[in-house]
Amino acid sequence: MRSLCLPILAACLASLMPAALAQTPSETPAERDKRMGWFRDARFGLFIHWGLYAIPAGEWQGKQTGGTGEWIMTNAQIPVPDYEPLLAQFNPVKFNALQWVKLAKRAGMKYVIITSKHHDGFCLFDAKNSDWDVMSTPFKRDILKELAVACKAEGMRLCFYHSIMDWHEPDYLPRRPWDKRPADPASFPAYIEYMKAQLKQLVKEYGPLGIMWFDGEWESTWTHDMGKELYSYVRSLQPSIIVNNRVDKGRQGMQGLNKEGDFAGDYGTPEQEVPATGLPGVDWESCITMNDTWGFRKNDTNWKSAPDLIRMLVDVASKGGNLLLNVGPTAEGLIPEASVERLEAMGAWMRKNAESIHGTTASPIGRPDWGRATKKGSKVYLHVFNWPADGRIVVKGLPAFIKRASLLAGHGTTLQVLRTGGDVTLVGPTTAPDAVDTVVLLETQ
Ligand code: GLC
Repeated sequence: MRSLCLPILAACLASLMPAALAQTPSETPAERDKRMGWFRDARFGLFIHWGLYAIPAGEWQGKQTGGTGEWIMTNAQIPVPDYEPLLAQFNPVKFNALQWVKLAKRAGMKYVIITSKHHDGFCLFDAKNSDWDVMSTPFKRDILKELAVACKAEGMRLCFYHSIMDWHEPDYLPRRPWDKRPADPASFPAYIEYMKAQLKQLVKEYGPLGIMWFDGEWESTWTHDMGKELYSYVRSLQPSIIVNNRVDKGRQGMQGLNKEGDFAGDYGTPEQEVPATGLPGVDWESCITMNDTWGFRKNDTNWKSAPDLIRMLVDVASKGGNLLLNVGPTAEGLIPEASVERLEAMGAWMRKNAESIHGTTASPIGRPDWGRATKKGSKVYLHVFNWPADGRIVVKGLPAFIKRASLLAGHGTTLQVLRTGGDVTLVGPTTAPDAVDTVVLLETQ
């Protein structure tokens, strides 16, 4: 009976899977859930954009460029021979892998995604097939190896962002309009082999990895078939690895989720936005900057506040997604002080409230006026952003009986539970216990 029903059930579930959840043919929904398990529990990760572009830091030939720091080669239309001298200047002597990983851990993050290669093609690791890498700089230290060691020591999942688009590798096409290197005899198939060799090295020598995060798939040379093939290739290197949807051509603009259809990629990647409502059944991760740039820009001081970032994390978790929050380290190898301060503030809040974030699922009561909610089994966490002056929090539409309501960070302080028709009113203190987000734990039946 059991052996007969399960495959049928699995097949039915598979046919119901949303478009964003591409699967390899051999993976059942249960196997997929297992592979995605840590990612769904994590809810919070650190994005690190770091490379040669940290040296100009948004300024070229004495002029501020527009756009984000890591795009300077395009923003200032810098020809390859003019960009290459940055290699001899890269010497981030203050880099300390363990400090970075410990900072992420203190913030409550469960994974780190760093640019093994961004669009400028520069490799932050000892690339066997390229001299356009960190070992050709005065620094001569394999940054990704040091991070791999630190992540292992701290129990942090290491993940890589590897750009498909490459403005430096001669075989990559198309050429930028200002790039005068001849396109002939560039060979895109040779470029794909070059990229695959790097991916193999990264997985085999720095892994096991959590995620391989692709980007730059929008170029005309990259096709749906190439995306599917690359997805399978990376999974063949490490079957448990998770691959984002930018490996293929299915992404819908900055909204990041997949168009209808059979596209490769395990999850959607909204960029600089949080989807307005939850997306049941779809895995996603919003990547967001703390200021307005991914790679370091010295003049970008447009920082989001720590309270806003904490509420953003809660908002994302309440909708069933992950927040991948970015830092852009300096050319010296330091995470900017403003970013450190914000991560520490998030960490201070997480130390008291992480239980309401990690391992939770989306809100069972939508988006109440006073804040957000998350859920874990029979526990519901109310995230009260706007604590009512009369201390009365109205909870509408909770389909469960509340046994007990208490402040998560309140050493057992309980709230009175009043039932009024279908709604429930919780009565607590008249001043907000936490001005940013007070978490009320509901134990339900
Ligand atoms: C973009 C940009 C890029 C950044 C990324 C992060 O697509 O090209 O510079 O790395 O998004 O999501």
